[in-house]
Amino acid sequence: HSNNRKLPVIWLETSDSGDNNIAFMNTTYPYLHQVLTDMIDLLYSNTFMAAQGEDALDLLFESAEEFQGEFVLIVEGAIPTKDNGIYNIIARTKNGNITALDAVTNLGGMAQYVVAAGTCASFGGASSAAPNTTGSVGVGSVLKREVINVSGCPVNPDWLVGTLAHLLMYGKPELDELDRPKLFYGNTVHRHCQRRSYFDKDDFAKKLGDVECMFSQGCVGPRTGSDCPYRQWINHVSWPVKVNTPCIGCTNQDFPDASAPFFKP
Ligand code: SF4
Ligand code: F3S
Repeated sequence: HSNNRKLPVIWLETSDSGDNNIAFMNTTYPYLHQVLTDMIDLLYSNTFMAAQGEDALDLLFESAEEFQGEFVLIVEGAIPTKDNGIYNIIARTKNGNITALDAVTNLGGMAQYVVAAGTCASFGGASSAAPNTTGSVGVGSVLKREVINVSGCPVNPDWLVGTLAHLLMYGKPELDELDRPKLFYGNTVHRHCQRRSYFDKDDFAKKLGDVECMFSQGCVGPRTGSDCPYRQWINHVSWPVKVNTPCIGCTNQDFPDASAPFFKP
């Protein structure tokens, strides 16, 4: 790293499956320990911190005060808004419940940058899928400020760590029309897909497992922005189409409802 400054980060998990922090742990170049020791100063995270209960909550408020206007708020998960946000409570205190809606609203106003990690935080995602009984929405819908959306179900660790690295070293990355960093989401899956030559020859798979283009099986790669075909997953070794699964559009604003059913044989 080029300087000694670390990025102060407060990581709030709201309504998601926890898949995004698990994906984050798979980071390579830099590895997780390097991210946590050299790159970010992780002030609060219910997954990665040792403190629990009131001690953890005190740390949350103290660090938000201390680093006001400087910290990055990472939100992992959608925000339930129905019935005053009662469907996600991050803490119970003597003064009442603190909902995810309260916490994200307050901390979002104090942060230098707000980063939505994963498709739930970015756009509502699976947590807001029909019939969305909790009235869940993405972070950008509850904050009156810009949110950097780093979508994906889960987020690819490179997309999240790369965004944080960009914030640390160069400031805000250039964003697309959905407020996502263009360097990761600027091209479609289809553009660089290894089966693109089949698509161009109208040579389509008749069933899952065939080697040809899976547009016939419901692949939504042509309308999905991400660099999966060359960045890949799990230490950069594979990605959905490479293992015979159509792209189901997990980075999209309308995922998962508009992608369902995922397979259309
Ligand atoms: Fe495009 Fe999907 Fe076919 Fe790949 S498999 S070429 S992403 S439609
Ligand atoms: Fe998601 Fe499609 Fe990549 S489903 S992981 S954007 S190939």
